[in-house]
Amino acid sequence: MGARKVVEEVRDAKLLGRGGAAYPAGSKWEHLMDIGAFPKHIVCNADEGEPGTFKDRFIMERVPFRLIEGMTIAGLVFGSSTGFVYVRGEYRSVQRGFMRAMESARFLNLLGRDIMGSGLDFDIAVVSGAGAYVCGENSALLNSTQGLAGRPRIKPPHLAEVGLFGAPTLVNNVETFANVPSIVTMGGTAFLEAGHPDSGGTKLVCLSGHVARPGVYEVPLGSVTLREAVFSPELGGGLRDGARVGFLHLGGQSGPLAPPELLDTVYSYSDLRKAGLSVGSGAVVVADDTVNVLDYLMSVARFFVRESCGKCTPCRTGNPAVLKILQDLSVPGLADRRTLEKLWALADVMTQCSFCGLGRTATVALKSAWKAFPEEIERNAIRLSQKDGASRREVSAFPSF
Ligand SMILES: Cc1cc2nc3c(=O)[nH]c(=O)nc-3n(C[C@H](O)[C@H](O)[C@H](O)COP(=O)(O)O)c2cc1C
Ligand code: SF4
Repeated sequence: MGARKVVEEVRDAKLLGRGGAAYPAGSKWEHLMDIGAFPKHIVCNADEGEPGTFKDRFIMERVPFRLIEGMTIAGLVFGSSTGFVYVRGEYRSVQRGFMRAMESARFLNLLGRDIMGSGLDFDIAVVSGAGAYVCGENSALLNSTQGLAGRPRIKPPHLAEVGLFGAPTLVNNVETFANVPSIVTMGGTAFLEAGHPDSGGTKLVCLSGHVARPGVYEVPLGSVTLREAVFSPELGGGLRDGARVGFLHLGGQSGPLAPPELLDTVYSYSDLRKAGLSVGSGAVVVADDTVNVLDYLMSVARFFVRESCGKCTPCRTGNPAVLKILQDLSVPGLADRRTLEKLWALADVMTQCSFCGLGRTATVALKSAWKAFPEEIERNAIRLSQKDGASRREVSAFPSF
C-alpha cells in the first residue's frame, strides 16, 4: 500500500485514540509523517492506570499479535526501527506473557531484522511502570521511559516533534494500535462503517461494579445505549440482585458521573459528549442506588490526592482542599454556602490552571455529580444556611452550571 496510503486509511477510518483523550489517530499519524527528522520512535501506552479499566490488559493477554502487528505497521509507515511498550508496573504477568508473544513473533521473523524479507528492521522493548497514574500521561510516560522522574513535560514542543530521547515520537494506546491491522485489511471506509459516522470501529467497554456480568465487551460504536450496555443479557445482564442504577461512572476517575436519566444516551463519542458525558478509557463503573454519591466522590478525591505528582500548585494543594471540603460536606453543620462557593471556585481553578490532564480532569466527576445530584452535595450545607435564613435557591444559585 505504501506508507502514505496507510496513513490515509487510518484517517478515513476516523479512529479516535482509545487511551481517553479521543484524539483522531489519523491527524496524529499525518503530523508525524510530515516531520522530516529521523529517527522516529513508536511508543505504546499500556499504562492502563484508570481505575475500572482493564481492556489493554485483555488485548495483551488474549490477542497480543494485534498490538505487535499494529506497532510494526507504524514502524513501517514512519521508517522507525524501535518500538516501546510502557506497561503498568502492576501487570507483571501481562508483561511476561507479552514478552513470550514477542519471542514467538521474532522466531517467525515477524519482528526483528528484515521482517518477512521486506528489508524492514523493527523490534519492540517492554518498559515497566512503577505504579504512578500520572505516568499514563504521554509526556510523563516518555520521561519515565527515559529513566527520568515520571512528571509531565511542558507542551509545546509537541511529542511528535520532540518526544522520546528528543526524537519525533508517536504515542498511541494499546487498543488504538490493535485496531490498525483491521483498518489496513478491511480499509478505512469499511472500518468507519463498522462503527459510528463520527468514529469508526468498535470499542472495548469495561463493565464493573454492581453489574451482574462484569467484563470486557466489544461493541460497535453507536450500536448500543448505556442502558443496553448495562442491562442487555449479552452484555452487563442488569444489576446484581435486581438493584436499581444509582449512577454510572464513565471513562475512569477523571470521567463524569451519569445519572439514571441519561441511560438512554447512545454509546458513541459524539452522543456521550452532547449529553455532557464521555467514553474516556472505556470504563463503565455501575453503582446501584445504595451508593452514597458524596462518599463516592470522596474516594475519587482521595485517588487524586494520592496520584498528584506535586509539580504544580493547583493540583498539589487543590486536591487535598477538595477532599477536605467534601469531608466537611458529609457532616451536618460544618459547611455553609461559602463552602460551596469555595468548592466551585477551587474546581474551576484546578481545571483551568493545572499543568497536566490529571489536575485538569480531577474534578470532572465532582462537577457532573453536582449537576446531576445537587441535593446529595448540598444537603448538609443547606440545613446550616436555612438556619441562617438563606433559601434553598440561594444556596445552589452560585455554581454556574
Ligand atoms: C493523568 C493521565 C493519565 C493517563 N493515563 C493513560 C493510560 O493509562 N493509558 C493511555 O493509553 N492513555 C492515558 N492517558 C492519555 C495519554 O496522555 C494519551 O492521550 C494517549 O496515550 C494517546 O494515545 P491515543 O491517542 O491512542 O489514545 C492519560 C492522560 C492523563 C492526563
Ligand atoms: S496537574 Fe500538576 S501536580 Fe497534578 S499531576 Fe499534573 S503536573 Fe503533577
